Amino acid sequence: MRKLRLVAIMLVSALILVACGSGKETEKPADTKGYVGIAMPTQSAERWIADGANMVKVLEDLGYETDLQYAEDVVQNQISQIENMITKGVDVLVIASIDGSALTDVLDKANAEGIKVIAYDRLIMDSAHIDYYSTFDNYSVGVLEANYIIKKLDLDNAAGPFNIEFFGGSPDDNNALFFWDGAFDTLKPYLDEGKLVIKSGQNTFEQGATLRWDGAAAQQRMDNILSAHYSSGDDVHAILSPYDPISLGVIESLKNIGYGTAEKPLPVVTGQDAVAAGVKSIIAGEQSQTVFKDTRELAKKTAEMVQSLVEGTDVDVNDTETYNNNVKVVPSYLLVPISVDIDNYYEVLVDSGYFTEDDLK
Ligand code: GAL
Repeated sequence: MRKLRLVAIMLVSALILVACGSGKETEKPADTKGYVGIAMPTQSAERWIADGANMVKVLEDLGYETDLQYAEDVVQNQISQIENMITKGVDVLVIASIDGSALTDVLDKANAEGIKVIAYDRLIMDSAHIDYYSTFDNYSVGVLEANYIIKKLDLDNAAGPFNIEFFGGSPDDNNALFFWDGAFDTLKPYLDEGKLVIKSGQNTFEQGATLRWDGAAAQQRMDNILSAHYSSGDDVHAILSPYDPISLGVIESLKNIGYGTAEKPLPVVTGQDAVAAGVKSIIAGEQSQTVFKDTRELAKKTAEMVQSLVEGTDVDVNDTETYNNNVKVVPSYLLVPISVDIDNYYEVLVDSGYFTEDDLK
């Protein structure tokens, strides 16, 4: 009897193994609503750490299993991590890409396995296999930064001319172009009339771009611009920067040659992401502004998309025109970014619980 039962158990086990197929599902956690691979670019920036943690939290609360990986800004790492997630049998991939154009092949593989893909914050380019895109209104980030400069320099009333230099984000990040265009389009009338002057003449995105959003590289570029174009005594009045670490690098460069005193004040310097160091700099009266994008909201929205995809219900989008990735227009949900400076940082960042007072000390 006992022997028979053993044989029966063995038979059933073998059948289950056969039913599991290739073996890839063997790693897939049981008893979950679904398995979600989350590929994030780097832990060297606060926001991505928060984004990853928020995504895991929201998805786990909803009953999903997650696999969160960071690639430390190395494109090949990210590709390997995604390949690994495909092998483990994820149902959905949520990807914040490092190089938006480097994932075409790996997404072909994901598609072959029927895995759904959401581009997180950054659009993935050159692939048909992106289902949805969750992000902020990236063009309006640039508009907010530019409008801040218009207001602070009082460009509609002051005589000028004022000197401005533009910094761009990473050239392999589609967002960087949107930020640049939003800012440049908004400031163009003032550049055209000569009220704003780019003394370096570096007025194209390619000239202003900062590979991997690296603050040290921005500082170096600012050093070069200052010595080549401002050594005869002209001052810089505004810096269009699309990211707090870039702003901080530029401010360092300016302070090194004597900016930041009553006689030689720092220019108006914009930013993005409300990183703690950037907000502290705002409180200290150095960086002027940042653009806050609430990563908690982005995680929530993206998790909702995951759920709809897994359950086969309609995915909530609010933009089906703007984000063409060279293969198709990717249906998107755009959240609203907020301009933050010394006047509203407490209300927007501390009252909302994004930072504690201590975080900003
Ligand atoms: C962009 C993102 C920005 C900033 C930047 C550097 O893609 O939209 O908010 O985080 O990367 O990480």
